[in-house]
Amino acid sequence: MSIYSPDLLKVSEVLPETSEIITLVMDFQDGSLAKRFSFKPGQFGLFGAFGEGECALAIASSPFTKGQIACSIKKIGKVTSSLTSTNVGDIIGFRGPYGNWFPLDEMKGKKVFFIAGGIGFSAIRSSLLSVLENRNDYKKVVLLYGARSIDELVYKRELAEYEKSSKIDLIKTVDPGGESKDWDGKVGFVPSVLEELAPKPENSVAIVCGPPIMIKITVAVLVQHGFKRKDIYTTLENRMKCGLGKCGRCNIGKVYVCKDGPVFTAAEIAEFPPDY
Ligand SMILES: Cc1cc2nc3c(=O)[nH]c(=O)nc-3n(C[C@H](O)[C@H](O)[C@H](O)COP(=O)(O)OP(=O)(O)OC[C@H]3O[C@@H](n4cnc5c(N)ncnc54)[C@H](O)[C@@H]3O)c2cc1C
Ligand code: FES
Repeated sequence: MSIYSPDLLKVSEVLPETSEIITLVMDFQDGSLAKRFSFKPGQFGLFGAFGEGECALAIASSPFTKGQIACSIKKIGKVTSSLTSTNVGDIIGFRGPYGNWFPLDEMKGKKVFFIAGGIGFSAIRSSLLSVLENRNDYKKVVLLYGARSIDELVYKRELAEYEKSSKIDLIKTVDPGGESKDWDGKVGFVPSVLEELAPKPENSVAIVCGPPIMIKITVAVLVQHGFKRKDIYTTLENRMKCGLGKCGRCNIGKVYVCKDGPVFTAAEIAEFPPDY
C-alpha cells in the first residue's frame, strides 16, 4: 500500500441501517491483497470517494472474514455524503489498516461488557464479532446498546439474532420518547440502563463507544461500580488527514490519535490535557 495510490475496493453490498446510516460491504480488487489483508479489531481505514476526498472509518467487519471488509457510515458532510450514495459495483479508495486495537487476547477468561451508543456500535462491532467467534475464551459477553430511537438502532438484523443467542446477553434501549408501543427493549439513556444493570467489576473489562458525552458518563458509572480505569477501553474519533502521525491534525497534547490510538483506556484519557 502506498499513501499516494490507495488500494481499490469494489462495493458488493449496500445495507441500509437507518435513514442516515448505511453499511458498505466491499471486496479488494487486487486478488493477492485480498488474500493477505488482515486487521485487528479497533483499527480504522481512510476511505476515499474519488473527487471528494477521504475520511476515517472504523473497520466494522469480522477479522475472520477474508478478502472483504465492511464499514458503516453516517452522512455528515462532503465525503460521507458521497460514500453513502454509492451503489453496488462502485469503486472506492482505501488506505489502512491504521491505528492500534482492542487487546482482546488480554481479555480472555474475563467478562466483557460491550457498551455502545448510536453509530458508535460500528467501531466495536469487529471486536464483538471476534469475541463471539472465540466465545469459549471469554467468561461472559454482554452487549448494552442504545440509540435515540428505534429507527436509529444500527445492525437490527444482528440484534434480532443476539436476542435468541445463548452466547451473548443483549440489553437494548432507546431514549425516552424514541420507543413505540410494541418496543420490547428498555427506555432510558445508556448510562442509566447501565446503572440499573449494576455490572460487577470482578474479572471484567468494558469496551465503550458512542457520542463523547455518553462515553464520559458511562465511564463515570463504571468507575462508581468499582471498574478500574485501566479496564475500560474506548476509541476516539478525532478529525484525521494523513492517518500516519505526520500532519498533526488529530493530536491531543503529545498523543496522535491516528498512531497512538484510536483505542485508549479511560486511565490514559484521564492523563490528557484538561479540556479534552
Ligand atoms: C478513527 C475514526 C473512526 C471513525 N469511524 C467512523 C465510522 O465507523 N462511521 C462513521 O460514520 N464515522 C466515523 N468516523 C467519523 C468520520 O471520519 C467523519 O464523520 C467524517 O470524516 C466526516 O467527513 P465528511 O467529509 O463527510 O464531513 P466534513 O464535511 O469534513 O464535516 C462535516 C461536519 O462534521 C464534523 N466532523 C468531521 N469529521 C469529524 C470527526 N471525525 N469527529 C467529529 N466531527 C467531525 C466537521 O467538523 C463538520 O462540522 C470516524 C472517525 C475516526 C477518526
Ligand atoms: S491524522 Fe495526521 S497526524 Fe494523525
